[in-house]
Amino acid sequence: MSLSISLTINGRSHALALDDPRVTLLDLLRERLDLAGTKKGCDRGQCGACTVLVDGRRLNACLILAASLDGAEVTTIEGVADGETLHPVQAAFIAHDGFQCGYCTPGQIMSAIGLIAEGHAGDDPERIRELMSGNICRCGAYQGITEAVLDAQRTITAANRRDAA
Ligand code: FES
Ligand code: FES
Repeated sequence: MSLSISLTINGRSHALALDDPRVTLLDLLRERLDLAGTKKGCDRGQCGACTVLVDGRRLNACLILAASLDGAEVTTIEGVADGETLHPVQAAFIAHDGFQCGYCTPGQIMSAIGLIAEGHAGDDPERIRELMSGNICRCGAYQGITEAVLDAQRTITAANRRDAA
């Protein structure tokens, strides 16, 4: 017997029948919904490649059962750009060479977006490194990643100030 859930993914509503109630959000996104931007690294919560936002919080999609998310709002890397305009975090990763092979990059970017929205990253590179420590980069692009997060944070904060004025 299948289980029915509804999810909003990148602003679009999905009514889904889950044949296997044990399917993870990660497998649902990649294998059923063709949203393969979210990567599978370890599939056990150790690398952060599968990071997405669920109701605004960054979570490892490989650790969450899709069945537990009925009614949730999920944002993946496919949903962060505004048409042809990159999200400020995406643009900053390019500007600061925050990647090499790129496999960890969607997870790094989603984690950075969540971290900036949490609002307590500050401007200390060490603190950013600590708050991003769940996202592993085998290529060791950490210097560029940290610089990108700091830069994107400044851009987003300035834009928010302009909007509030
Ligand atoms: S694939 Fe989810 S944490 Fe590694
Ligand atoms: S850019 Fe290759 S794993 Fe991070």
